[in-house]
Amino acid sequence: MRIDILTLFHEIFDGPLSESIMKRAIDKSMVEIFFHNIRDYSEDKHNRVDDYTFGGGAGMVMRIEPVAKLIEHLKKQREYDEIIYTTPDGELFNQRTANTLSLSKNIIILCGHYKGIDQRIRDIYITKEISIGDFVLTGGELAAAVMIDAIVRLVPGVISDETSALTDSFQDNLLSPPVYTRPADYKGHKVPEILLSGHEKKIEEWREKEAYRRTKKLRPDLLDE
Ligand code: ADE
Repeated sequence: MRIDILTLFHEIFDGPLSESIMKRAIDKSMVEIFFHNIRDYSEDKHNRVDDYTFGGGAGMVMRIEPVAKLIEHLKKQREYDEIIYTTPDGELFNQRTANTLSLSKNIIILCGHYKGIDQRIRDIYITKEISIGDFVLTGGELAAAVMIDAIVRLVPGVISDETSALTDSFQDNLLSPPVYTRPADYKGHKVPEILLSGHEKKIEEWREKEAYRRTKKLRPDLLDE
């Protein structure tokens, strides 16, 4: 899988991509991530990528030309499954979207900034607009990093224990059941007896019941979907 990230602040990605599972996925070339600085595609002599809003109003708007030039440049080289724009007014990101996107060959993620981007970029190029939650971030980079983490761990081979990703919370619209490790008794706080029984079928039934109970209590909205 190849991900092209269009950004003004690529350093924001350094931390999230340089540790643990993400680092290994990149080192082993299971995912290739390329950064493109939108500013490099500005034709303005000051390398400006933003301008005032037509009609007035606070905040700057990302200009069409640099982004269009960059996207055209990339599209000439390969086909993209999706050209994604991160924005608080996009569709809410969830595990289903992560699953779908993890099957992509090539995707572009355009990180939004300022007051937004010229609407015509969205109309002409963007195939999917994604928000990671009902709150406003300073820019789309953190949203893109969150999405990449959720997507890349689902790419086949990235997580060594294949079943581990399949039993995640949300994978079947249920939260995960509780988990325990040693000691079996911590200052009188005991691990549920059933988990020590060695009875696989009963343990599985207990986990399913707990997953349902937790979901009903904490996220009843998931059961309606
Ligand atoms: N950019 C700013 N806020 C955002 C959000 N909540 N989701 C995605 N992109 C954003």
